[in-house]
Amino acid sequence: MDVLAPMTLDPAMDTLMQRGAAFLGTRYAVLGGAMSWVSERNLVAALSNAGAFGVIACGAMMPDRLAEEIAATQALTDKPFGVNLITMHPNLMELVQVCLNARVGHIVFAGGIPPGPAIKAAKDGGAKVICFAPALALAKKLVRSGADALVIEGSEAGGHIGPVSLTVLAQEILPHIRDVPVYVAGGIGRGEAILSYLEMGAAGVQIGTRFVCATECVAHPNFKRAFIRGAARDALPTVQLDESFPVIPVRALQNEGTKRFLEHQAEVLRRFKAGEVAKDAGQLEIEHFWAGALRRAVVDGDVENGSLMAGQSVGMVTKEQPAAEIIAELLAQASAALTARRAGA
Ligand SMILES: Cc1cc2nc3c(=O)[nH]c(=O)nc-3n(C[C@H](O)[C@H](O)[C@H](O)COP(=O)(O)O)c2cc1C
Repeated sequence: MDVLAPMTLDPAMDTLMQRGAAFLGTRYAVLGGAMSWVSERNLVAALSNAGAFGVIACGAMMPDRLAEEIAATQALTDKPFGVNLITMHPNLMELVQVCLNARVGHIVFAGGIPPGPAIKAAKDGGAKVICFAPALALAKKLVRSGADALVIEGSEAGGHIGPVSLTVLAQEILPHIRDVPVYVAGGIGRGEAILSYLEMGAAGVQIGTRFVCATECVAHPNFKRAFIRGAARDALPTVQLDESFPVIPVRALQNEGTKRFLEHQAEVLRRFKAGEVAKDAGQLEIEHFWAGALRRAVVDGDVENGSLMAGQSVGMVTKEQPAAEIIAELLAQASAALTARRAGA
């Protein structure tokens, strides 16, 4: 079960990762970014067994399903892992309780500012709370509200994104938040980048896209093939056609679905202007376009019409390989860069 390869790192790497790894209870300060449909028992356990920190993506799962997924993950690893809960889930408080009952040590709240009672319940139940901070003011507020650690995710990331790149977020936030560990996410595809963010003060990194093609990941072979073929320039945010109908930005590989989404928006806009559809109804039609689309791509392999959420680091995904190998490669690159610099190379 324990596939942790003995890896010799530059001792300074261990020092740089010490705080972030201690908080997670892992060997490495590397979180597997929760990815709906992708981050289930197999990938999560593989990452944790390899010394990183796997995170189950709860997504729209109901409490019973989540309990089942946690138990199945615990059967595959005795290492720590976390659960990512979307704050607008209607059963959020129940989901927190499911995590606590299963003695999950870390709960990641995503998709918005978590309600105070959810943070309190998680902490009172003994779990550590990790929150996403999209700006410095919110980072400070989240720490005051009890967040034990933060993730700052740049717009390079796959999935739902904010407007600011990690390059800028890291400069704005890392120097000012020292009370809790801050992990950085978005666009991380090589170890040299990990090293540079650790040196800027990050406690560790969160990576999603690079782990999609892990051998253990259950994503459909078509989904993985799209990642192996994809280049950074193919992973684009959703385009909003008109400001009357706001669109939540999601970074994904372009396909037939993204083209049809533009046509769909144009059609809704035309009907709205012709008085054939009310604004609210039109907005709902636009939001419903992608309903179930990630599942269609990840589970069913429909890479033409499904959603191929992927970050800009997708160009650095070149083959399917075991999770432990991906982690070892990333950390070896970071370690080699550090050693070379010290040697003046
Ligand atoms: C396919 C996919 C699905 C994702 N689903 C979620 C999710 O359900 N919840 C969440 O908080 N983040 C989600 N993310 C974001 C990841 O957790 C992670 O923060 C992001 O992938 C990091 O950027 P990277 O892809 O550039 O490594 C998703 C990302 C991808 C690529």
